[in-house]
Amino acid sequence: MEPFQSVNAWRLPNWAVGLEVHSQTASDVSAGVRGTRDFYPEEMRLRNWLFEHFHAAARSHGFEEYDSPVLESEELYTRKAGEEITAQLYNFEDKGGRRVTLRPEMTPSLARMVMAKSGALPTPIKWYSIPQCWRYERTQRGRGREHYQWNVDIWGLHGVEADAELLSVLVHFFEAVGLKSDDLVIRVSNRKVLEEVLGALGIEGETFSKTCIVIDKMDKLPPEAIEQQLADLGHGHDSIDRIRKVLGMKDLDDLSIELDSDSQAVRELRDLFALCESYGITSWLAFDASVVRGLAYYTGSVFEAHDRDNELRAICGGGRYDRLLSTLGGKDLPATGFGFGDMVIMELLSVKGLIPHLPSGNEDIVIPLDKALRPAAMAVASRLRASGRSVDLVLDDKRMKWAFRHAERTGAQRLVMVMPEEWQAGKVRIKNLETGEESDFDAESL
Ligand code: HAM
Repeated sequence: MEPFQSVNAWRLPNWAVGLEVHSQTASDVSAGVRGTRDFYPEEMRLRNWLFEHFHAAARSHGFEEYDSPVLESEELYTRKAGEEITAQLYNFEDKGGRRVTLRPEMTPSLARMVMAKSGALPTPIKWYSIPQCWRYERTQRGRGREHYQWNVDIWGLHGVEADAELLSVLVHFFEAVGLKSDDLVIRVSNRKVLEEVLGALGIEGETFSKTCIVIDKMDKLPPEAIEQQLADLGHGHDSIDRIRKVLGMKDLDDLSIELDSDSQAVRELRDLFALCESYGITSWLAFDASVVRGLAYYTGSVFEAHDRDNELRAICGGGRYDRLLSTLGGKDLPATGFGFGDMVIMELLSVKGLIPHLPSGNEDIVIPLDKALRPAAMAVASRLRASGRSVDLVLDDKRMKWAFRHAERTGAQRLVMVMPEEWQAGKVRIKNLETGEESDFDAESL
């Protein structure tokens, strides 16, 4: 494989650019559904490359893969906190009259799976998955109506050790694809920061989760709109001022002055950063109190990765959600995890010139020189395939010139030529396309 091509040499029509996703009118069936993507083989090779890095980072940290259906009960997502995600469901009634939806995220499905085996699964549960998720969103750079979302979660551990391990998975992945800590930052905070601030003002429970959802929209909505929404939740001027002050903090020492001396939020954050020091990953991290995340279920550590230039949407996000199971009618089990979409990371890799040029993976091209030699070429291809080579056999009348161009285009290593005289002598001619060397080989010994 060649190293990396520059961004100009590799512009992805539907993916890295992100905007040229389908945008059809209802009658235009030649285009797919708006906001969805086709993956042509070139893009599919890249997707597989990306996913292979997702698999490798998770496996290197001892996670096992799981999966679940893309179709779920709508009920699984009926939450009251006013999250965007529940307003974006691809939901409908099936032919049996059940309310169902395409999953917008994986966490509730995972919770359902854990709950279904309550108590029977040995903890900690360390699982990962790469589901396709569906959200009826406004399509924009890095956001589509479907995306693949790498999910890595740990269930059954209370401590920030689990959160630190997840951050290590992330950094392992970033390094493996060639990114550096100068390229992006994982901003880390803890929901308990805001919980303590609001708790002191007597704001708890549902109002707390709803406040987090509003705060998460701070960089997307004008300040007046945010203020209005906070006021609608019952926050007075004092409360809003205090929220603003604390959210602006980027230093743990400042935070510890602002919160109680025995603040659990500060303790957890300090512990988490200390553990990350041992992993050697602190250059990738920054404390940022403004990270609260836009989903209601988070209860502790929260984090989001962003490009340092702040030009793209969040690369990934996650956090601790210790009380999700009880909201689904089960017995709580501590949990923490993250979701990592395929779209923004491809944007970032593209901007950084880190998109690899991937050949098709065919090793040999077998070509008969004339029609009469086709059966011989088939026998040769079969022999090579049986020995484990991936072989593209030329099935129609093609000239040698075409075969050379085809080999170049697909990155094949060898051209295997079945020629009349050589075949008579039990031989085939093989050209090594890397070195240019050409020699005859015994067909029997291939
Ligand atoms: P989320 O922040 O909604 O969290 O999504 C996680 C990531 O999925 C985002 O940072 C982004 O990379 C990607 N993503 C989300 N929506 C889209 C979209 N419309 N188009 C492209 N990419 C998108 C969750 O979903 C949580 N369930 C993550 C989690 C797992 N928390 C704990 N475990």
